[in-house]
Amino acid sequence: MAKRLNILYRLMFLVFGFGIVLCCQKVETKKLSHDAMIAYRVDSLLALMTLEEKIGQMTQVRHFSDIQKGDIGTKYIGSVIHTNGPLPGEGAYGWQAKFTALQKEALSTRLGIPLLFGVDAVHGQNTFKGATIFPHNIGLGATRNPDLVQKAAQITAIEAQATGFNWVFSPCVAIPYNEKWGRVYEAFSESTEVTQAMAKASVRGHQGNLSDRTTVMATAKHYIGDGATDFGIEGGNTTVSSNEINKRLLPPYQEAVKEGVGAIMASFNTLNDMPLHAHKALITDTLKTKIGFDGIVLTDWKGYSKYGKNAIVNAGVDMVMAVDGDLDLFQNGLKNGVEKGSVSMDRINDAVKRILRQKYRLDLFNKPFPDTTLIQKIGSLDHRNTARQAVRESLVLLKNDNNVLPIDKQVKKIVVVGEHAHNSGLQSGGWTISWQGDIENYEGATTILDGLKRYSNNIIYDADATGNHVDADIAIVVVGEKPYAEFFGDINENTGFKLTLSEAHKKYINTYVNAGVRTVVILISGRPLVVTDQLRAVDAFVAAWLPGSEGDGIAEVLFGDYDFSGKLPHSWPESLEDFSGRFGPNFWDNSIKPLFQFGYGLSY
Ligand code: BGC
Repeated sequence: MAKRLNILYRLMFLVFGFGIVLCCQKVETKKLSHDAMIAYRVDSLLALMTLEEKIGQMTQVRHFSDIQKGDIGTKYIGSVIHTNGPLPGEGAYGWQAKFTALQKEALSTRLGIPLLFGVDAVHGQNTFKGATIFPHNIGLGATRNPDLVQKAAQITAIEAQATGFNWVFSPCVAIPYNEKWGRVYEAFSESTEVTQAMAKASVRGHQGNLSDRTTVMATAKHYIGDGATDFGIEGGNTTVSSNEINKRLLPPYQEAVKEGVGAIMASFNTLNDMPLHAHKALITDTLKTKIGFDGIVLTDWKGYSKYGKNAIVNAGVDMVMAVDGDLDLFQNGLKNGVEKGSVSMDRINDAVKRILRQKYRLDLFNKPFPDTTLIQKIGSLDHRNTARQAVRESLVLLKNDNNVLPIDKQVKKIVVVGEHAHNSGLQSGGWTISWQGDIENYEGATTILDGLKRYSNNIIYDADATGNHVDADIAIVVVGEKPYAEFFGDINENTGFKLTLSEAHKKYINTYVNAGVRTVVILISGRPLVVTDQLRAVDAFVAAWLPGSEGDGIAEVLFGDYDFSGKLPHSWPESLEDFSGRFGPNFWDNSIKPLFQFGYGLSY
């Protein structure tokens, strides 16, 4: 009997085991067949395309200025970008309607290839008034919370889709070497490890399964060395060694590629005077061949005419941001190059395959239009709650003497100082509503002051520190940088930006400190600043970065409903001398000692 049972068990085990093997094979074939199906479709479509149609797919234009009516069809445009300039329409329905109309033009061409619609949604769908605006990446880096970054990216994808886009030019995975660079805040951290973790989370959040209408294609940018230029000059030259590139700069890209990132944008900078756009060794040999990136390499703004025309295509660029007069120059120039044999047909075919592959992965051939039901989710409470959580978790407490924080809700008089305390434009930085940012409150946002007022009826707002309220028990002084974005935000004589607080902001602090009022400083900035004297003088100091639309989240931590948990994403410099070198302050060089180490951050 026992023997029979044994045989029976063995038989059952065999059948079960065989079942599992079959099952796994089925999953494997199914997965393979999805990729194989896309490859088959790409090849079949490519075989039907003329050279003009192929070059068209490689072209990205704005929905205004670059094109005349009908150009989408006659120039076989592959992608449309929305950026600084005229809005696509009135409200989200208007935006969707505009992009739907352009999509219809593309679909009515001979081969009916759908368009990719891309946008600089770099901290939420920040080009749309009323969207949820997250803290800039530097603040997300401070949270050390990849799950939250993933959630923020998911929300950004929904709000981007709701306004008509299927592609975002985010995340920036730069490693800033020099805090003078005007784009430090677009990057998560000086740490490669933190940036890797956040890059992975961001790509996963944006792209999801890629094929439904709540996700978008992501772009890791700017490849490579954007934040490593000498003296922090945007688009400048970098001289870092290939060892440095491999060790510090490449890993976030490797992580993004592993996560299936759909696009990578080439960088404005040069490496030992060679434009990155034309750097075949880094684009083709390293990124595509060695790392195995099978998505689209896109130029940055006007990259074709700026960085060597067809040389950039030969280096491995697949799609060109053909803006500001580059459209015909690019299309005719590339056609000429192919006809003359200086650009191979193989290279063109590879570029177009990469573009079509992403369009199939996004399932655009079946679902080319945005979904109007998503519009109600723009700036929804649910989305804002996640952004508020990100604000709370991004705050880094640098000093808290005599337990001035958390603030006692019963305190008799609190004076709030500084224009940054009550201006959602100032608290959000560049790439918010407009390219260089705004100095106005915008729709749906709350300010820091709004949040504080929810906790106490005893708050007085003294915007420019008149000195009339030195009888206050506590002063909360909000100071920092004005909004800026690329080029305009570098710290040098031309831009006017400095590494220190303005004289006016120093005065705001001194007015209350000198009168003996317990003073808390909230610093709004896109990078660490040299604030050593102020740090010494005040009771508490919070680095709040660029929190975005949910400014009221700050009060929730100041009043102690939540604790501080943010950790410095950058080492904090002590003096201006720290910045004297090419990479100043380069805290990987142990000869410079930071005031606060990377990772520093107090809690209650
Ligand atoms: C920036 C990119 C951005 C692009 C499109 C460029 O100037 O460097 O980060 O994605 O413009 O607006």
